[in-house]
Amino acid sequence: MTTFDNPVFCALDTAERARALELARQVSPAVGGLKIGMEAFYALGRDGYEAIAETGLPIFLDLKLHELPNTVAGAVRALAPLSPAILNVQASGGQAMMEAAAEAAEGRIRIIAVTVLTSLDDADLAAQAISGGAREHALRLARSAREAGIDGVVCSAHEACAIKAECGADFLTVVPGIRPAGSAGDDQKRVLTPAAARAGGADILVIGRPITAAADPAGAAQDIQLSLAA
Ligand code: C5P
Repeated sequence: MTTFDNPVFCALDTAERARALELARQVSPAVGGLKIGMEAFYALGRDGYEAIAETGLPIFLDLKLHELPNTVAGAVRALAPLSPAILNVQASGGQAMMEAAAEAAEGRIRIIAVTVLTSLDDADLAAQAISGGAREHALRLARSAREAGIDGVVCSAHEACAIKAECGADFLTVVPGIRPAGSAGDDQKRVLTPAAARAGGADILVIGRPITAAADPAGAAQDIQLSLAA
């Protein structure tokens, strides 16, 4: 299932169209794909999405859908003409919701499910009365996604290997919370370096601020690419 030669997807988290397009243009030679999330999509709309997609890179549309099964299925169908390579839903929306999303995609988009946000740790989950901690909960949600016919999950690099072992080598693991050695953690709590994440079973590395907030985004993306080739 891992068909992305370069596993790095750069997260274009900005509400400014010109900045999004400039970043996409700058980083495109050194990344395997682009991630368009809520901030960019809600601010720039389908038109902005299409302009970014003109780079020709695969797009991960990170809208984290979470609604009634029928509504999520409708949303997947409404987004299908944009042809994202990957679209995601929240695993916590439940098995029926994930099944509806997978069915609505008709094999044309890889639907993946968010397990546990990498900004959350065990204490945050305990505060929500979720037992077992982040790792156990992520595995629980990944199993449910697999059973629902979902193509993979968004998870922490710390769980990617265990998820692959349980759900199969072809079950896509998309991993945010990546920080090159020496860079700031920002609001991410469970971080790993790009190389450590790949070694830990991550198929796709979602990397935002270490690239987009760098003085030289193209250079930062290239350095990450080189660190993976080493
Ligand atoms: O800037 P940074 O590298 O932290 O960006 C990570 C990206 O991954 C953000 O766009 C964020 O929305 C996304 N993400 C995440 N944790 C998840 C799912 C997505 O950080 N579980």
